[in-house]
Amino acid sequence: MGKTSYFVVPWRMSCAPMMDWTDRHCRYFHRLLSRHALLYTEMVTAPALVRGGAVHLLEFNPEEHPVALQLGGSDPSELAAAARLGAERGYDEINLNVGCPSDRVQSGTFGAVLMLQPDLVSDCVAAMLDSVDVDVTVKCRIGVDDQDPERSLPEFLERIRAAGCRRVIIHARKAWLQGLSPKENRDIPPLDYELVVRMKEAFPDLHLSINGGITSLDQAQGFLDAGLDGVMIGRAAYQAPADILCAADRLIHGEGPDTDPVQAVRDMLPYIEAHLSAGGKLHQVTRHMLGLFAGRPGARAWRRMLSERAHRPDAGPELLLAALDVIEPAAAAQAAV
Ligand SMILES: Cc1cc2nc3c(=O)[nH]c(=O)nc-3n(C[C@H](O)[C@H](O)[C@H](O)COP(=O)(O)O)c2cc1C
Repeated sequence: MGKTSYFVVPWRMSCAPMMDWTDRHCRYFHRLLSRHALLYTEMVTAPALVRGGAVHLLEFNPEEHPVALQLGGSDPSELAAAARLGAERGYDEINLNVGCPSDRVQSGTFGAVLMLQPDLVSDCVAAMLDSVDVDVTVKCRIGVDDQDPERSLPEFLERIRAAGCRRVIIHARKAWLQGLSPKENRDIPPLDYELVVRMKEAFPDLHLSINGGITSLDQAQGFLDAGLDGVMIGRAAYQAPADILCAADRLIHGEGPDTDPVQAVRDMLPYIEAHLSAGGKLHQVTRHMLGLFAGRPGARAWRRMLSERAHRPDAGPELLLAALDVIEPAAAAQAAV
């Protein structure tokens, strides 16, 4: 499907777009943990790229492929121009955000509020598809506010399919546009997984991924077994990457052994050295690595060492080696029990 070809279908499992979290350092790190999972950028707004000229927001490392750019916006020609900028820089997919409920985003008429305007979303998708050769996808909610998702979600999917969209990621809960913070909107509106599974039955030709509240690869596999084409995991992949990403290639993509989190730390060292040489700070990278050993021996010491010391002006890669010195004996001790 689509014009990008990978031997393994990357969108069987993806890592969700998360503002302030899935920046390029995070994605580089995640790529070391899973060779195949599709990685999404944070949302970048089309006005920032097209009117603001903020094309530095598109920078990424070639090692990150397959990587998708998520755009926010609601002006078809501006989104088309932004999509073109992304495709020219080599993104494998351009995704439209129709799920983010924040006030700032609502005021610019993008994100989840667009669930109320399927015709406008269709125009945006059609314009983006016209301007790029890579896949154009949509990430949406099941509905907003008092919409009846049983009716409005299939209508929405119908419209964007008619515009040429072939792959959709559905966050399986409504967004409530009034009264909840963006954070609350990720937990409080109830999940309706059943509805998303039924959408796959109603739209067998659409590639549908499910998102929201997935905390294990067993759970993810259950959705694939139920007929869905892909799973998107956000917070669990970020907060417990060893549990999710290290086993994803083997369990979800059916290719390759589990990756070793300790080896991934060692493999980050050249990247970190290059980042520091270019004037960057250690904590900008290590903040994404704090949860690497979550649930494993030494996790607390690892997190503490990195969070307390990575901000120091002289902090460098040797901090990670020192923290590994704590992890490895703890893991060996547990293995010996
Ligand atoms: C810190 C944070 C930032 C997020 N930023 C975005 C974003 O930029 N675009 C988007 O579509 N969703 C965003 N989300 C929502 C996630 O992509 C995802 O839909 C949501 O967290 C539910 O999935 P999960 O339960 O697997 O985390 C964000 C979530 C978090 C936790």
